[in-house]
Amino acid sequence: MARSRRGSSRRIFEPYGGGASAPGSAPEAGTRPGLAAGPGDREAPGVRQPSPVRSQRGPRTGQAGDRGGSSVGWIPVGALLPLRFFVGFTFLYAGIDKIALDTAFLDLSSPTSILAQLQGYARTSPLAPLITTIAEPNAWLMGLTIALAEIAVGLALLTGLAFRAGAVGGALLSLLFFLTASWNVHPYYFGQDLPYGFGFVTLALAGHGDRYVLGPWLERQFAPRSRTGRQVAGTAPMSPERRQLLQVGAVAVGALVIGTVVRPVRDLLMPVSAAPVGAGAGAGTVGGAASPGAGAAAGTSASSAPSGASGQSGSANQLAIASTAAVAQAGAFGFQVPIAIGNASPGDPGIVVSLGNSQFAAFDAICTHAGCTVGYDPQAGLLICPCHGAEYDPRHNGQPVAGPTNIPLTELPITIQGGEITLKA
Ligand code: FES
Repeated sequence: MARSRRGSSRRIFEPYGGGASAPGSAPEAGTRPGLAAGPGDREAPGVRQPSPVRSQRGPRTGQAGDRGGSSVGWIPVGALLPLRFFVGFTFLYAGIDKIALDTAFLDLSSPTSILAQLQGYARTSPLAPLITTIAEPNAWLMGLTIALAEIAVGLALLTGLAFRAGAVGGALLSLLFFLTASWNVHPYYFGQDLPYGFGFVTLALAGHGDRYVLGPWLERQFAPRSRTGRQVAGTAPMSPERRQLLQVGAVAVGALVIGTVVRPVRDLLMPVSAAPVGAGAGAGTVGGAASPGAGAAAGTSASSAPSGASGQSGSANQLAIASTAAVAQAGAFGFQVPIAIGNASPGDPGIVVSLGNSQFAAFDAICTHAGCTVGYDPQAGLLICPCHGAEYDPRHNGQPVAGPTNIPLTELPITIQGGEITLKA
């Protein structure tokens, strides 16, 4: 009975092999024959699952209904569902976040934008030549592409459509993030991109196990129909190539639709003032408190520094950056590093912080994790990176106290004379 109703069933998530009437019987395109469905992967709900001993005998191949819902033989695919849905949801959310929730990401004037991050990656990443020649000049397009790719990967994993292609895409994205955003993280296990990458590799090997997949439903929508709209019985199964094209196309269209509508929906649901998550930090507020120092460090040029710093005057090796009064009042003040000092380069954002008791400390404000610009949180007394949350203690030479890096900020040598803070070259 269940099978006879299947053609008109409204079920969306269902296994490929649960009934012989599922359109097509060949493996999902891209599925390796040797990775055919594992024992029990297509059994109906309530049917006893395979025992570990049985699973270890290795995969059975060539069975009807195998569409890449396979296991590697010794892993019950159902055990990977938490991993699948976690990384799928996370990548979907990450893509949406970049387009709609974090308004600073695609705003190239923001210190937390994709452009600022790429400039940071170019300092340390082994992909620096590619970043400077290809990615930076096309930063907005690059950011949008990454966001859409993350959405597509998330959709593929959550729906089971083009599952292995999505898992491989996720692994490649994770590798890209590892070589850029996480490259400066030491020890490597503090970085999050490698675990994601290996999670994707595991899913690509295992397949979706025919569990919670939209493929059969999608194929029914494209199955031949009579004039009355009924599906034509006895039609040839969909070819693997057409199935692959259909699933990849559905995921791509889904990603484009989500990428297009998510920002207007955000604008509809969230007042503009409440929208930015990170833009606020980039605009000069860190930890909820307005900080002129953070704002200036976040992109204000030296010409907007206080009067004592405006000319960055002084001798060739002593450059005034701010008046002590201005910094003491504001808590911190930003400037532009005028010359190469230690690891700091000319043009880098710098920040000078009041430590109290007429003590001050200045730093290159580029986060040592991946190059975003840190700002000062006067409440916490810390320099905080808005990108991934690194926190540095200005009272202890910019040592990191939290976040994904253990490399301190570059401290800039200063002297104080006549109410002026000057850099020592
Ligand atoms: Fe990642 Fe600063 S760039 S924490």
